[in-house]
Amino acid sequence: MANSNRRIVIIGTGFVGASYAFSLVNQGIGEEIVLIDVNEDKAEGEAMDLSHGLAFSPSPARIWYGSYQDCKQADIVVITAGANQAPGESRLHLVERNTTIFKGIVENVKNGGFNGIFIVATNPVDVLTYATWKFSGLPSERIIGSGTILDTARLRFLLSDYFQIDTRNVHAYIIGEHGDSELPVWSHANIGSIPILNMFTVSEEDEDTFKQDLDDIFVQVRDAAYDIIKRKNATYYGIAMGLARLTKAILYNQNSILTVSAYLEGKYNHNDVFIGVPAIIGRTGIKNVMEIQLNESEKKKFASSVELIKSFNQTVNK
Ligand code: 2OP
Repeated sequence: MANSNRRIVIIGTGFVGASYAFSLVNQGIGEEIVLIDVNEDKAEGEAMDLSHGLAFSPSPARIWYGSYQDCKQADIVVITAGANQAPGESRLHLVERNTTIFKGIVENVKNGGFNGIFIVATNPVDVLTYATWKFSGLPSERIIGSGTILDTARLRFLLSDYFQIDTRNVHAYIIGEHGDSELPVWSHANIGSIPILNMFTVSEEDEDTFKQDLDDIFVQVRDAAYDIIKRKNATYYGIAMGLARLTKAILYNQNSILTVSAYLEGKYNHNDVFIGVPAIIGRTGIKNVMEIQLNESEKKKFASSVELIKSFNQTVNK
């Protein structure tokens, strides 16, 4: 790793970047937090504001607004910059605009001498993670997209609310595109080791209602961003906390399993794509992709999601 000081560089200090920095400071993650934005005043203002909260943070840190030169010493560079969805717009609509922005950013980070781990949060995240890998030339295990980390958290929250059980005891993954083609892995979802699909066995009629409830929960997860954007124009707290969790897993070598956008080289029978799958995350980045035994219907949905992302990856390869 580049530095003994646990340096995180955040590129883009909009709602997501600023909320992520706020999560880091609140949880005492990282010792140096560098903020970069095309709007330097915004980055400087955020650095000042966050620094004023350090007296209340669990551990000391240094926060400043910086430049791409600061990437040389960084352990992690997190990209949150780019255009956001307008209400009703899908994440994939942003591909052309944000690929162009990423070309410039990744080039600048590279020229700044960076040799650490990239985290990508900008949408469409699976395509932009692929773009970051292509543009940076770094090994794929050091390129991590936020993938379905938030979708999985949304699913766990809604299931915990439905069953009235602590979210942390609900184990269920969303995999695939961070977007409309994602899917829940119901075949392995469980609470306290009991498969969720077996959690209702009272009568046939009730079972139908139960299955419908699970379908509705998935639809709420899949459409959550649309529902929030309609109300407040953007989503940021959930993703910011997910990014902080991912950062902690890397910096403290936690070997945590998180659903991130990871590079597939044969796992799930797919290649040359970054997509949301459970992976072991530690100090070197993605240590391993966990290959869940999907059922036939899940395999089909996952394959369509892969194909969709690959068709958008053409924008990067152009
Ligand atoms: C989200 O899912 C918009 O990707 C963002 O909240």
